[in-house]
Amino acid sequence: MTSDQQPVHPSDPADADSAVAASNGPRGRRPRVAIIFGGRSSEHAVSCATAAGVMRAIDREKYDIVPIGVSRDGQWVLVADDPARFDLTAGRTPEVVPDRSHVVLPLSTRETALTVLEAGQPPRELGDVDVVLPLLHGPFGEDGTLQGFLELSDIRYVGSGVFASAAGMDKHYMKVVFAGHGLPVGPYTVITDRAWRADRAAALDACSALGFPVFVKPARAGSSMGISKVDDPAQLESAIEAAREHDPKVIVEAGITGREIECAVLEGHGTDGPRTSHVGEVAVHDNHAFYDFEAKYLAEADVDLTCPADVPAHVSDEVRRLAAAAFDSLGCEGLARVDCFYTEDGRVLINEINTMPGFTPHSMYPRMWAASGLSYTELIDELVSLALERRTGLR
Ligand SMILES: Nc1ncnc2c1ncn2[C@@H]1O[C@H](COP(=O)(O)OP(=O)(O)O)[C@@H](O)[C@H]1O
Ligand SMILES: [Mg+2]
Repeated sequence: MTSDQQPVHPSDPADADSAVAASNGPRGRRPRVAIIFGGRSSEHAVSCATAAGVMRAIDREKYDIVPIGVSRDGQWVLVADDPARFDLTAGRTPEVVPDRSHVVLPLSTRETALTVLEAGQPPRELGDVDVVLPLLHGPFGEDGTLQGFLELSDIRYVGSGVFASAAGMDKHYMKVVFAGHGLPVGPYTVITDRAWRADRAAALDACSALGFPVFVKPARAGSSMGISKVDDPAQLESAIEAAREHDPKVIVEAGITGREIECAVLEGHGTDGPRTSHVGEVAVHDNHAFYDFEAKYLAEADVDLTCPADVPAHVSDEVRRLAAAAFDSLGCEGLARVDCFYTEDGRVLINEINTMPGFTPHSMYPRMWAASGLSYTELIDELVSLALERRTGLR
């Protein structure tokens, strides 16, 4: 358990608003940052590893932290401020283990104090929290649900708001928004649950019309879960069923032949536009059919990350331009990683945006910023500062 459990201070929301913007944080003390991690998605362990990295790197002179783990079944627990417990190593998958207590946020705009509840015990006040760092990937964390909850509680948080988080999680609607802003995306078709149940043959025909190979994906998953590359029409139906295990809505995309070039985007301060990093290239060794779950998390040695990527200047400029435009098209805030394809015939297409990209010290997003002159610790500081500057609600 953390040692910084303090009694609640009576708070005046109006005072808190103006004071929070001050560099010292509200009430003349260091800002308190609740780090929320783990969660219900398949990316639980990766999120734990991210939290370990952030707990180690965050500037303790500047911020106090309150680590809150979310177990796989969705229970919020106060955990020890002990990064080593959450490292992801070859032999160990870290996990938030639920206990008899749980942490609750105030569903009130008049206070920001967290409380620990345990059956048969008096409530334990954890004191006010000034900002939440939601280090969660995938559904129930990166998809706007947690962001909505924090809005209801009137607690500031790092990263995108409700809409951008939800649209960024949904590979269908993110493409609709990108295309609506004139940004280049590849050909695709969407199979809703109803369409699949109503007329499977028509859905399969629409997929085949894209030509093979196709990539079959759950619309709202992540970490390559449920994704398959289909070369043979006979495999299409089972690939769609496999994707439907993760999400009743499935997107099927034409396979793009090209290199995977990514760019890290960081919101600007004040009226400045988004900042973009040097672009990076992800190259997966031949033993993986594509950048799959295993290559991402279990076999890091099978993936090469190069930043800056070895591409012509006009290509990196184009990726950066598209990355900033993609960020703005969804109304993203804080951070996002935009992943593009650089095709053999020289085009750049957007594959996807991630509003809470992998964020361990070894992940692409922090590495691209490190290669661009912003260290992991500075990056965390930037993100928390941006979140402290911003009110909740419409903005
Ligand atoms: N349309 C496509 N054409 C070629 N490769 C693709 C396509 N879509 C996905 N991939 C490959 O699959 C990987 C995972 O797909 P992606 O859409 O990025 O899902 P996730 O959200 O799980 O990262 C990509 O990094 C890429 O290697
Ligand atoms: Mg991806």
